[in-house]
Amino acid sequence: MKIVQFTSFGPPHEVTDCVEVDDVGVPLDDEVVVEVEAFPINPVDLLTIAGDYAIKPVLPAIPGSEGVGCITRVGIDVSNVAPGDRVILMGRDNWVQQRKVKHHQVLKVPHGVDVLQLAMLKINPATAWLMLHDYETLNPGDWLIQDAANSGVGHNIIRLAKASAIRTVNVVRRAALIEPLTAIGADVVLVDGDDLPARVKSAADNAAIRLAIDAVAGDICMRLADCLTDGATIVNYGLLSGKPCMLRSDQTIFRGITLTGFWLAKVLPKMSFDDITALYGQLAGRIADGSLHVDIEKTYPIEDIRTAIAHAGRSGRSGKILVTPNGVLPAQGHA
Ligand SMILES: NC(=O)c1ccc[n+]([C@@H]2O[C@H](COP(=O)([O-])OP(=O)(O)OC[C@H]3O[C@@H](n4cnc5c(N)ncnc54)[C@H](OP(=O)(O)O)[C@@H]3O)[C@@H](O)[C@H]2O)c1
Repeated sequence: MKIVQFTSFGPPHEVTDCVEVDDVGVPLDDEVVVEVEAFPINPVDLLTIAGDYAIKPVLPAIPGSEGVGCITRVGIDVSNVAPGDRVILMGRDNWVQQRKVKHHQVLKVPHGVDVLQLAMLKINPATAWLMLHDYETLNPGDWLIQDAANSGVGHNIIRLAKASAIRTVNVVRRAALIEPLTAIGADVVLVDGDDLPARVKSAADNAAIRLAIDAVAGDICMRLADCLTDGATIVNYGLLSGKPCMLRSDQTIFRGITLTGFWLAKVLPKMSFDDITALYGQLAGRIADGSLHVDIEKTYPIEDIRTAIAHAGRSGRSGKILVTPNGVLPAQGHA
């Protein structure tokens, strides 16, 4: 079978290769074998391969923070899934044709749902949902503000907020995104700039905004804070600018703005199995009914992993980059 592997940390499209290895073999009593149908290339994967992420794997390593596939074999003690079930992979190392994992490292998802969307279920929809609900109590009509609004997480936030009648100010770095983000339910879309707070106040009718969701860090945090009401929260979950989060002391001391961080890898292990199942069950339901959806720019075969990675690393994309390691999916994965 084929796997993606990197033997040194460095530019992801240079240090990563598709290599042939032995099949995973027979599962142990508590294991399952999954034939991987699709996986996305996320910023976390690129950071990990570059050696710039919080988790540094032992080399040689297989990248891959998420993926979806079908169970082909189960050990004799496994009862939560059966051959033929579709599952998402809850662990790492997923850029492969086959995975052999413990039975509790997979979550069953429904058939008849867009496979490519399910491949992106584990990280971004859950991140969006938890950041929307775990920091400030927002009611219908309330506002939030987010940056990097064109990201996968950003799309999920727009759609989830819209479904709860929460209004969103969406900050982007190029004007071409105003129309497509408005089309999926964004209330306000603004290009970042020094006068962002004044434009936000005007577009949101001077509403008291209590939640900012930030993936960029750097000095945009100060501009976001200037858009917020006193005592509000900024949740930082990404490091897209590569710069530290910056706030002025008048924002933290006199206005009581709180800056905190969100990391799904820390939050999920604290949740009960029932809560995790319920979270992903309702998010998969939203994918099934079409209310959660992230655009896809292109899918690649696993052999073209370097081209796929280079594509995923480019700015100005219209959607995510995915890989279908066992060949093109029927009807482009919408089965
Ligand atoms: N903490 C967590 O648990 C967690 C979970 C999920 C994701 N994340 C993080 O969330 C971020 C988004 O992930 P994703 O998978 O949603 O990303 P994605 O779909 O691959 O999209 C990346 C987006 O980032 C924008 N971007 C890149 N560099 C930027 C910069 N310097 N300033 C402003 N915008 C920038 C791009 O804008 P253009 O369209 O203009 O190129 C693009 O819209 C990443 O940092 C990721 O690591 C964190």
